[in-house]
Amino acid sequence: MYFYSELLTADKKGSFVPKTLCLRLSYDFFIMSTSPPLITKPESKEDADYNKICEEYKHLIETVPNGNGWMEKHLYSYNGFWFHPNYIKNHLLLPIYFKSQPTDIFLASFMKAGTTWLKALMFATINRHRYTISDHYLLQHGPQGAFPYLDIESYPPTDFTHLPAPRMFATHYPRTLLPPCITSCKFVYVCRDPKDVLISKWHFMSNQRSKDLPPFSLDEAFELFCQGISDFGPFWEHVLSYWRASLESPDKILFLKYEEMMKQPEVALRNLAAFMGKPFTAEELEKGVVEKIVELCSFENLSNLEVNKKGVVKFGKVFEVENRLFFRKGEIGDWKNYLSVEMKQRIDEITNEKFKGSGLILDATT
Ligand code: A3P
Repeated sequence: MYFYSELLTADKKGSFVPKTLCLRLSYDFFIMSTSPPLITKPESKEDADYNKICEEYKHLIETVPNGNGWMEKHLYSYNGFWFHPNYIKNHLLLPIYFKSQPTDIFLASFMKAGTTWLKALMFATINRHRYTISDHYLLQHGPQGAFPYLDIESYPPTDFTHLPAPRMFATHYPRTLLPPCITSCKFVYVCRDPKDVLISKWHFMSNQRSKDLPPFSLDEAFELFCQGISDFGPFWEHVLSYWRASLESPDKILFLKYEEMMKQPEVALRNLAAFMGKPFTAEELEKGVVEKIVELCSFENLSNLEVNKKGVVKFGKVFEVENRLFFRKGEIGDWKNYLSVEMKQRIDEITNEKFKGSGLILDATT
């Protein structure tokens, strides 16, 4: 089962580390395995709200359309996007477990568009006065635990209030599904060529796929991806939800492209720092701090760390991912090793059609 919850707590320096797993058993487990629900006596208003939402969620899952899943049997259509059921439940729970603060900064992305890289860069930039490069938090813990996913169920709610500002959160939810108190905060969005996203996601999901399901062919992944049926998909609508918002509020959303960042990481990092309200000073530029952070967060450096070769990150109460799976090749254009000419053309046509008139041009590889 795919629980994408992550229970984290802050260490002395305000960095996130996994905390002892909550003893409360997952409600998902109950509703999937038994009925009626075991919780009958709400202990508080929050518990009552939680139980109500779980009922609503259960009803939704039974009624909304489903399609073939990548890791589990099904994905479910919810508000125009496709989700693993846990994310639907998490979305319903969001208002009771998360309260934003005006200084919060969010990292938003479609899965496999460069989230891990951006997490590292944002964390290292905001915390550059706390750590030396040679004794950096990222070297010990890797980027995954640097800050939490908003999309992760946190019930009973995790207390994030003590975290130093600006707090940072990552999310894969499309912009249109986020409440105004969150969308009024600053967002960094990273976008990537959908062909590379597809290949990266296919590898990742194949690895995480339930052993009860038959192997997941690239042909099937391709077909589903083109139809928009993949976790948080359709890819194009996801990207457009942030792209359009970035045009409306450029001071609130920094729209980044993975390919541009790969080509000029120092330029991207300087823009990122300025956007987050922590521009590099002339002295820092002089001392090469930008280059040092870029190097610290490079694919080569991060992927070779012990923690990223052997460690695991826990998402939720029972689901773990090996850190190494977040570091595969880190290249532009790996799709060329997998997609036929016809497949490439089909994705490019969809991209051109969907982005027509939006002003968004992806630095697609030919
Ligand atoms: P590939 O599978 O194409 O190699 P996400 O972090 O959103 O899950 O995305 C994972 C993708 O980003 C993977 O792409 C991974 O290798 C790549 N990646 C991870 N860390 C990176 C880094 N520091 N620099 C560039 N790419 C990175």
